[in-house]
Amino acid sequence: MAADRDFDHPDVVLCPDGPLLLRNATSVQAADGTIHPVERPVVALCRCEKSSRLPWCDGTHKVIPRG
Ligand code: FES
Repeated sequence: MAADRDFDHPDVVLCPDGPLLLRNATSVQAADGTIHPVERPVVALCRCEKSSRLPWCDGTHKVIPRG
């Protein structure tokens, strides 16, 4: 049913041991309430909380030892 897919929300992809990818988002609200406008078709949100550019992923997760 194509009509079931016509939601007005971003697509979300969880990358294993990496960021959360958002496609078609217009803004992201951080836990502290700060709203970050999104100006790219796809953005990567940090899930490891080690990025120097929170809430965005800066690739730091690649050098964090896995537990
Ligand atoms: S997920 Fe990439 S820096 Fe945190």
